[in-house]
Amino acid sequence: MGSEEEEAAIRVLRSGWLTTGREALEFEKEFAAALDPSGESGLRALAVNSATSGLHLALEACGVGPGDVVLTSPYTFTSTAEVIRYLGADVAFVDVGPGSYLIDPDALDRTAARLAEGLSAYADGRGPTGRPVAVMPVHFAGLPCDMDAIARVAARHGLRVVEDAAHSFPSRFPDGRCAGALGDVGVFSFYATKTITTGEGGMVVTADPELAARISVMRSHGIDRSIWNRYTDRKASWRYAVIEAGFKYNLPDLLAAVGRAQLAKAGRMLEMRRSIAARYDQAFSSDPRFRTPPTGFADARHLYPLRLAAGMDAAGTDAAGRNRMIDALQEAGIGTSVHFIPLHTMPYYAGRYKLRDGDFPNAMESFSASLSLPIWPGMSDGQVDRVIAAVRAAAVRAACREAAPSGRTPV
Ligand SMILES: Cc1ncc(COP(=O)(O)O)c(C=O)c1O
Repeated sequence: MGSEEEEAAIRVLRSGWLTTGREALEFEKEFAAALDPSGESGLRALAVNSATSGLHLALEACGVGPGDVVLTSPYTFTSTAEVIRYLGADVAFVDVGPGSYLIDPDALDRTAARLAEGLSAYADGRGPTGRPVAVMPVHFAGLPCDMDAIARVAARHGLRVVEDAAHSFPSRFPDGRCAGALGDVGVFSFYATKTITTGEGGMVVTADPELAARISVMRSHGIDRSIWNRYTDRKASWRYAVIEAGFKYNLPDLLAAVGRAQLAKAGRMLEMRRSIAARYDQAFSSDPRFRTPPTGFADARHLYPLRLAAGMDAAGTDAAGRNRMIDALQEAGIGTSVHFIPLHTMPYYAGRYKLRDGDFPNAMESFSASLSLPIWPGMSDGQVDRVIAAVRAAAVRAACREAAPSGRTPV
């Protein structure tokens, strides 16, 4: 956050208009133009108060409801799956590819085919049954899923595609297309840690005018006029119709103005993230103890998930080895995180669908072997070097502890 964001917030505070209005409308136009500068796709952006609410609105607009099954990756934050349950539909998890962190299109095809035949999602009668109606690819860490393959599977099974693009702004393929603007609906997050932020917030994008109209009404209580329209249109502000039981999911102008300032810097912040990631890649890619993250043109570099290579210590790539790395880094004053604990291991989903940890082996392997290193725009070269040195030292310490007989842990 810099002086641009401060000035934007003050501008709104002084304007006398605090809730959703002119700033949110401008933010929407600017965001849509960032994804589709020519405007040819007819992409519309709708500002919301979180990606979670945006995902909920997206599925609701696609008509998802009880008896339906939505397919998604277990390698995600709980928002992706919980919104399916908000609507009374069920979640079918599909494993990620080996080492990719991203949903495997072939596994997606197989699970959708089972559901379409009236079988349960998994071979031994476990998992949900019901109509497969949608898939939610998650562009983990900013890495885009294989959307062409997913589109083919979706077309084969008649699935709507709702992209969880919470991590993936901005991301442009060489052909100009952007992750998040490739499915029926895409949803971005502006949560505090994301690549651009409003503290809390999100943006829904779609080129389908019917979906856009539904999402627009449902984010604002199911009222047929937006708040801004009620106060700027000639028609009396008090006159409106409630046409659905909607939600209160609008983004206030105070946050939208901050988002506009962030959007204006998004390209520069991406370059900074990329140069930090490049330094990490250079430091770790030739070190046999580590695996650097897969990458591609459109990677937004939201996270830097470093994997520990099998055989790094006596325990191999189990979570214990990774956990020791995190502890050792913590002791060295370096904060790391784990993205994500796979959702199928969470008590709610494991209980509801009778899932076992081993059901999605690639997700489990990625989880057990990965830790997310610090990465943020403005991180200095010195800070990056400090992290690199600390990771190397922590790897030595983590391996030593594993090798030491119990009770004789070297300090
Ligand atoms: C993959 C993914 N999807 C959705 C969300 C939800 O975003 P928000 O906090 O804006 O609701 C997050 C948040 O961290 C996320 O990581």
